[in-house]
Amino acid sequence: MTIDRQASLDWFAVNRRRSRELFDTVTPDAYESRPIPLRNPICFYEGHLPAFNVNTLVKRGLGEGGIDPAYEVLFERGIDPEDESAAGNGASRWPSRKEIQAYGEESDRAIREAFLNKEIVRDDNPVLARGLAAYTILEHEPMHQETLRYMWHRLPYEKKVRPAATPGPVVDGSPPASRSVRVPAGKATLGADPERAVFGWDNEFPLCIVDVPEFEMDVHDTTNAEYLEFVEDGGYEKRELWDEEGWEWVAGGRVRHPLFWERHGGAWFWRGMWELVPFPGSWPVYVSCAEARAYSRWKGKRLPSEAEYHRAAFGSADGSERSYPWGEEPPDETRGNFDFANPDPVPVGSFPAGRSAWGIHDLAGNGWEWTSTVFAGFPGFTPMPSYPVYSTDFFDGKHFVLKGGSPATAKELLRRSLRNWFRGNYPYLYATFRCVQSSGDRVIG
Ligand SMILES: [Fe+2]
Repeated sequence: MTIDRQASLDWFAVNRRRSRELFDTVTPDAYESRPIPLRNPICFYEGHLPAFNVNTLVKRGLGEGGIDPAYEVLFERGIDPEDESAAGNGASRWPSRKEIQAYGEESDRAIREAFLNKEIVRDDNPVLARGLAAYTILEHEPMHQETLRYMWHRLPYEKKVRPAATPGPVVDGSPPASRSVRVPAGKATLGADPERAVFGWDNEFPLCIVDVPEFEMDVHDTTNAEYLEFVEDGGYEKRELWDEEGWEWVAGGRVRHPLFWERHGGAWFWRGMWELVPFPGSWPVYVSCAEARAYSRWKGKRLPSEAEYHRAAFGSADGSERSYPWGEEPPDETRGNFDFANPDPVPVGSFPAGRSAWGIHDLAGNGWEWTSTVFAGFPGFTPMPSYPVYSTDFFDGKHFVLKGGSPATAKELLRRSLRNWFRGNYPYLYATFRCVQSSGDRVIG
């Protein structure tokens, strides 16, 4: 297997430009701020992206020296700690933005040089075999861009500058009638074959084929309008609807509504990336997994498992499985709300050309879909040599799999086997859900 040097350079250029634009939207006085308490300050990430590229491809892959050993330790790794005291601080005084950007330019030069001229595919080196390190850095950056986008989402509006070309919020229509469809029993292929995939993260391998019994799934993601009924029915005060961890979070944090909702002058608004939006009833609700589960119980339903998501998104009546919900064509702007086309969600059902074989909408884009599946390796999992702790640090029984993608998910990351994961009480990400039920389900509460 070879790697297309020019395509890699082009992808790298898109990644770096998008990151630069993201950091440019933050006002200088917010550069060292920490919009999400459990994450590093903003400046860390502008150093982390180029440092990760050097550490992964230049040092670990090519076995060469780095650019700045102190930076390559300081900016080595992001965090996902239990609580704020564990978040700590990577440095008492961060380098200036100018210094961080100067390092970034050096790093970019080294990476471009590697993509152009170095032996970045070597089967005698596990980090370079099949271009592993190159793909690792090319996908790492857009993944961070998504987490940075939802971090920026929490910044006060006066701490960010809206880029001129940003589209405004898509005007809210009336939410479609809620409806579910039957997905017949069949097999779902999770994961990917390591011999055939161009690239995947370690948790995507190996193939894992599951028999999925019949179930019924909501055609649309749960909308803000539907979720409002749950809020108004006192859903956040009903102990029996919540798991223990979710209840602790709701009661301890005084959570009474989705994080993206704000109340002003007696009316609900949605906190958009660049502006407050009058309550968009037809947009998918963005919530934590705990909230999604509580709502599902309130409805007498449940969240889909990862295998049910696969069956709903990629299965078809003739038994074959598709690469994307709509078929084999690569993702484009007609198929869903992804690849940074919109800063916020759009009404559910806006992309009929993206429906799955069963007529289910928005399974890719417009918000990650929470599943009930605890994040773990498929049978036969092995950590990846280019980034050994990528997944294993999170096999702790506390993280849940999400599938699909959000407005801030790059199109390259919409491949079928890609898995995302977060703690059940993490409310910041662009994640929604839909409910399922099946004849074997016992309704609780
Ligand atoms: Fe990272």
